[in-house]
Amino acid sequence: MTDVLVNGPRDVWVDRGAGLERVDLDLGSPADVRTLAVRLAAVAGQRLDDACPAVDARLPDGTRLHAVVEPVAEAGAVLALRVLRQAAFTVDGLVGSGSVPPGWAGLLRALVAGRANVLVTGGTGTGKTTLLAALLALVPADERILTVEEARELAPDHPHVVPLTARRPNVEGVGEVTLADLVRGALRLRPDRIVLGECRGAEVRELLLAMNTGHDGGLATVHANAVAHVPARLEALAALAGMPRDAVAAQAAAALDVVLHLRRERGRRFLAEVGLVRRAATGELEVVPAAVWDGRTAPRTGAAWDVVEERWGPC
Ligand SMILES: Nc1ncnc2c1ncn2[C@@H]1O[C@H](COP(=O)(O)OP(=O)(O)O)[C@@H](O)[C@H]1O
Ligand SMILES: [Mg+2]
Repeated sequence: MTDVLVNGPRDVWVDRGAGLERVDLDLGSPADVRTLAVRLAAVAGQRLDDACPAVDARLPDGTRLHAVVEPVAEAGAVLALRVLRQAAFTVDGLVGSGSVPPGWAGLLRALVAGRANVLVTGGTGTGKTTLLAALLALVPADERILTVEEARELAPDHPHVVPLTARRPNVEGVGEVTLADLVRGALRLRPDRIVLGECRGAEVRELLLAMNTGHDGGLATVHANAVAHVPARLEALAALAGMPRDAVAAQAAAALDVVLHLRRERGRRFLAEVGLVRRAATGELEVVPAAVWDGRTAPRTGAAWDVVEERWGPC
């Protein structure tokens, strides 16, 4: 089971690997669901109350907890538990389970070895973090990896990983350490690779800055439901950091090399596209397909394949 979602006392869903299914479970009243959420948050060392009605935390066993309570959630509380898989996937394992086409494993290795700056994209639960961890396991053992995350999730199979996690402000509103602070801090800790577990705000500016100032081989994930949405998504995040659209296009095109886009269909997760990030003649940021896969038939190459092969090949 990878996900448990509670929308209300009698509205509970799970994902056992074949997509969401509703389960016949009665958790009592909305107040009971709220109490459950508050207790789980407390186990993860976080407060959940009227003043702070949302948490994103990690339970001691590694399970990721997202919860919101009244007044934000109407039904007492809404909970999402994401169970971390114990055995980490490797790229070969992902190929074996049909999530990556066999012909693309060499390309993934070449991207890591060639220190490409890679953005892993996809919708929620499509396997972005899983693929990221699998890629990190391919990083040579003599390299030092700094990971920056909101809540610690990445546990790559690599001997030299320094994890940094963000901190929320305390009750008095002080002591906050943001992802942007951590990316800046990570740069001073002699990283060979900077990894931003999930880029979802203004820290995109620090990420692009790092990648544009000689820190190559960086990896990050960004939520995007389709490859075509990636440029707009980056622009929206960068706007939070006050970056104008034109600056984002220039910086992102210079910083990022490749997008690896994941899709989830009928419970199956797979790598659906390898895209090349570049700036179009019009100045717009664009992701040009280098290879695409529908998850069933043979993968096809796209317009940017030759460039990708030339830069990181032999793939
Ligand atoms: N290729 C895969 N095959 C099977 N399960 C997967 C695969 N990729 C991810 N998962 C599982 O799906 C869940 C969500 O994966 P995760 O990498 O956290 O997604 P995301 O980061 O996109 O939200 C996890 O429990 C993970 O173990
Ligand atoms: Mg993730």
